[in-house]
Amino acid sequence: MEEHLTVGRVAELAGVSVRTLHHYDEIGLVRPSMRTAAGYRAYSAGDVERLREVLVYRRLGFGLREIADLVGDPSTDAVAHLHRLRGLLLERREHTDAMIAAIDRELEARAKGVMVGPEDQLKTFGAQLYDAIGGAYTATRRTDPRIAAQIWDGLGDAQTVLNVGAGTGSYEPSDREVTAVEPSAVMRAQRPAGSAPCVAAAAERLPFADQSFDAAMAVSTVHHWRDPICGLREMRRVARRVVVLTFDACEPGWQDRFWLTRDYLPEFGDLLADFPSLAAMAEPIGAIAEPVPIPWDCTDGLFEAYWRRPRAYLQDHVRRAVSTWTRVGPEAEHRAVRSLSDDLASGRWAARNGDLTGLDMADLGLRLLIA
Ligand SMILES: C[S@@+](CC[C@H](N)C(=O)[O-])C[C@H]1O[C@@H](n2cnc3c(N)ncnc32)[C@H](O)[C@@H]1O
Repeated sequence: MEEHLTVGRVAELAGVSVRTLHHYDEIGLVRPSMRTAAGYRAYSAGDVERLREVLVYRRLGFGLREIADLVGDPSTDAVAHLHRLRGLLLERREHTDAMIAAIDRELEARAKGVMVGPEDQLKTFGAQLYDAIGGAYTATRRTDPRIAAQIWDGLGDAQTVLNVGAGTGSYEPSDREVTAVEPSAVMRAQRPAGSAPCVAAAAERLPFADQSFDAAMAVSTVHHWRDPICGLREMRRVARRVVVLTFDACEPGWQDRFWLTRDYLPEFGDLLADFPSLAAMAEPIGAIAEPVPIPWDCTDGLFEAYWRRPRAYLQDHVRRAVSTWTRVGPEAEHRAVRSLSDDLASGRWAARNGDLTGLDMADLGLRLLIA
């Protein structure tokens, strides 16, 4: 016989009151499918699954009526609900990161005696991550010609190119007709005059008809998407060719590839815990993956760019242009920087990483997906 849980046990496990569960039963939101001999409500695995969906939607701020419509939708099964909930939670996390980043900046400003105006204070609450941190992007982030050559090679003979998550326009080829897509107003505002036209949209819902472009490209952005697989499918839908610069976070021991994550910032691994594997991203668009080595003097200040120039990570403007440093939080950031600074001063970093000085390029997990 199928195992049932009593109402008291379900309440205890879920961290809600028995009264709440009674209420959900009374309004028909989560009806336990059985009663015990003594007349107590008893929940089956299916009832618990539905309750879990209700509770996550509730925590995300949905009203009970809205939730009833969502969980009662006959066209949505449990897996579809899990995907939707996961996407909503990631969006929430991105918002939280953005608010923390904006609050940190205000604290910093106040510590210097600068008052933040009312408009800027309110912006915090509507902020997406790049609306909060994007202002620092152009200090170090720009096209690296060697990485660009590999991306442009991947585009083949495409004449019309869609650049998704385009940011300020790095890696947009000047000899093709480019259309950019970028959701952050702060990033769009920093696109240089004369750069490709830019549409405010997100990868998961590209406002273009099927096969509108010869190629679609996306550079250093997929890890920010609410639903990477959905975004990649969208790119495949609107373009005949797809080229994506992303990161392989699945190879065993990948956290040890780069001394920064291995010895100073292991929290980087947590940020990518939910990120799909390279194979999971390649499969739905039929892509092959090729390594993208990072030159020792990389001109794009991405997270791994300074693998042979460790002192760069001690500079605030270098870190502010890379979202990782904001997302790990100020405590981890300060600890990592302090520890790196100590090791550089004591010679410990050099003793551990001396072999890097002889290398011109390093494979630190960047991959180009080409489909
Ligand atoms: C690290 S920047 C990369 C920008 C640019 N591609 C480059 O290489 O400089 C990541 C960009 O992805 C954008 N982004 C975040 N979520 C997105 C989404 N769902 N769809 C498209 N772009 C997104 C951010 O606003 C940000 O501009």
